[in-house]
Amino acid sequence: MTARVVLVTGASSGIGEATARLAAQRGEHLVLLARGRDALGRVAADCDELGAASTTVTVADVADDDAVRRAVADAMARHGRLDVVVGAAGVVAYGRIEDVPVDVFDGVLATNLTGSANLVRHVLPVLREQEEGSIVLVGSVIGHMAVPDMAAYVLSKWGLRGLVRQLRVDNRDRPRLRFGYVAPGGVDTPIYEQAATYGDAVGRPPFPVQAPERVAARVLATVDRPWRGGQTSAANHVIRLGFSALPWAYDRMVGPLFTVAAQDLVREVVRGPGNVLASRQEHNALHGTHGNALAAVARNLVEVGRRRRKAA
Ligand SMILES: NC(=O)c1ccc[n+]([C@@H]2O[C@H](COP(=O)([O-])OP(=O)(O)OC[C@H]3O[C@@H](n4cnc5c(N)ncnc54)[C@H](OP(=O)(O)O)[C@@H]3O)[C@@H](O)[C@H]2O)c1
Repeated sequence: MTARVVLVTGASSGIGEATARLAAQRGEHLVLLARGRDALGRVAADCDELGAASTTVTVADVADDDAVRRAVADAMARHGRLDVVVGAAGVVAYGRIEDVPVDVFDGVLATNLTGSANLVRHVLPVLREQEEGSIVLVGSVIGHMAVPDMAAYVLSKWGLRGLVRQLRVDNRDRPRLRFGYVAPGGVDTPIYEQAATYGDAVGRPPFPVQAPERVAARVLATVDRPWRGGQTSAANHVIRLGFSALPWAYDRMVGPLFTVAAQDLVREVVRGPGNVLASRQEHNALHGTHGNALAAVARNLVEVGRRRRKAA
């Protein structure tokens, strides 16, 4: 089979990196995009070793429309076509809406939502001209619900889900264009350590934690069969059901559950913008360092007990 041209944003860490590596194993041509050149270089070298037909590194911020335009133009100049585009660039901010600085709040939306729209704006004319090709955008189960202290991320992922649906509606005249959407739950990647933090605890991936390789396999399965996309775990369906069918119970329970399952109460809190405003590529990696999620819940419960006793 002829190698396809696969462009991946957020390719220097986590889910984007795992997607790039899997595509490399399949012998595809890769265009790897993120803000940090050195981390991209590390992934590119691995992809070459894994069997990529070719690997190109593109340093760009997806929030910068002109940079995305240039990245797509460069990829076209080199390959003459684009077959698969995966939007996996993403950042997180924790903290109440009134505590997260406005530039950080807007930065989350700029990468996750406007960045996805920028990507689509420049890729779509290419795919429409070719009359075939796939775009897969990585959303989140959080694009289907509200969770405490993640307002910017929630808004960005609800918006991204709307963008995918909009693309399907707008491009019905091109039946060979495919628009995939993959919504992971907890995935062990560095995104939690990289997050902007303005609250009292740091985030962690909640149970059941998936490996980025597993989500990457889902992303690439979605390329040719968009109906294979959507939620990546059964737990996502349960949480979504609670959110929409039992809103009064969900709103009451999500706070305490989030504290013990989606935060690490014993890790030191380092407040600041994380990687939202600029790359911290030295922290990028294929996997995170969060360990067993159930053990983390147990540790959190012990810590909650300790704090209650101290307060009494
Ligand atoms: N991990 C999870 O539990 C989880 C769950 C649900 C959804 N997701 C989503 O999955 C996607 C990938 O997340 P991940 O966990 O793999 O995160 P990650 O390991 O932190 O990787 C994020 C990647 O995006 C790049 N990036 C960040 N901002 C960018 C920008 N403005 N322009 C270009 N590249 C940018 C980063 O490199 P530079 O910083 O060098 O640019 C890095 O390559 C995100 O959309 C995230 O919201 C993750």
